[in-house]
Amino acid sequence: MRKIFVKTNNPYEIMVQKGIFKSCSEIIADFFSSRNTVIVTDETVYRIYGKTLKNKLLREGFKLNVFILKDGEQSKNLDNLSLLYEFLSKSQITRNDFIIALGGGVVGDLAGFAAASFLRGISFIQIPTTLVAQVDSSIGGKTAINIKSGKNLVGAFNQPSLVICDPDLLSTLSSKTFCDGMGEVIKYAASFSESLFTKLSKNNIYDILEEVIFDCIIYKKNIVENDERDFGNRMKLNFGHTVGHAIEKYNNYKNITHGQAVSIGMVYIMQQGEKLGITRKNETEKLKKLLKKFNLPTTVDISYEDIFYNSLSDKKRRGNNITIVTVSEIGKSHLLTLNLDEYKNFLSC
Ligand SMILES: NC(=O)c1ccc[n+]([C@@H]2O[C@H](COP(=O)([O-])OP(=O)(O)OC[C@H]3O[C@@H](n4cnc5c(N)ncnc54)[C@H](O)[C@@H]3O)[C@@H](O)[C@H]2O)c1
Ligand SMILES: [Zn+2]
Repeated sequence: MRKIFVKTNNPYEIMVQKGIFKSCSEIIADFFSSRNTVIVTDETVYRIYGKTLKNKLLREGFKLNVFILKDGEQSKNLDNLSLLYEFLSKSQITRNDFIIALGGGVVGDLAGFAAASFLRGISFIQIPTTLVAQVDSSIGGKTAINIKSGKNLVGAFNQPSLVICDPDLLSTLSSKTFCDGMGEVIKYAASFSESLFTKLSKNNIYDILEEVIFDCIIYKKNIVENDERDFGNRMKLNFGHTVGHAIEKYNNYKNITHGQAVSIGMVYIMQQGEKLGITRKNETEKLKKLLKKFNLPTTVDISYEDIFYNSLSDKKRRGNNITIVTVSEIGKSHLLTLNLDEYKNFLSC
């Protein structure tokens, strides 16, 4: 088994192994002395994995209830958070007890925020079941819900007590959801590691999945340990995201997934970088080739003005400045802070 120790303010361990889900009830029973828990999951994940987990935990002597969300981003809202608080209360969850988040980023973000705030904070475990959750959302302690004004606007930094990551769980994902996660995986490669980029280009992903997930977790862990609260280098995890978020917003979060938007965003930034001499020539072509391998789009019909105006609410904007991530060559990323006029010029050159 590969174990990663994340040295944040509240340190914790990430266990990565194909097939580990089968023994996760024993791991959880060893880890916690409490025998009272609530599993938070969504309908699809409950149907495929939730019932199994529930029965295994019952056999370990747990008393537990299951809170099931409808699938999808729209579930990450205040109404469901409020229902979850009541559910935790009725399930007699006390400060010694804990929550299990079994699912993708939607489940992890909502359950993690509930854990941060219920009784002023209880423990939670992440069992991520999507590629996005395994390489990104279950690590780093960002938890949040969406409100009408925007996505992830209410949340907390709250590290889990333990992450149990089983790459075998990804075998039931639709290929679209899997490829969406590959957008984030390629982001890590393009920003931090030429060798990961080459590995992804040369191999069948299913032959190297566990080690790729492990690599991505290490890149995120290293960044998060040095900038837990996202004031500096953690922004490097945002390669492709400023333009990507603008594209998602422009499309009202419909018809284009997050991974697809990030894919287009990375290409856009590198293309502009090449024109300005910030990015080495022909690097964008390499990136496009790898993205296409995973059916990710590299362009979309949107003007630079629309990208600009839809970037103005970006979380990486501070007053008149916005910080973007550029890539000088595959594996080497840099933060670039521009004022809004400079940013507009960068997008349009
Ligand atoms: N906290 C962070 O740092 C962070 C980072 C990245 C993304 N996020 C958040 O994560 C969310 C997106 O997460 P996501 O992409 O995992 O989407 P998701 O949680 O909506 O899952 C996508 C779909 O896959 C299904 N699914 C999940 N696991 C499955 C499995 N093993 N087999 C079959 N189907 C399965 C779900 O039911 C759902 O329909 C967004 O809300 C985003 O804001 C948070
Ligand atoms: Zn992302």
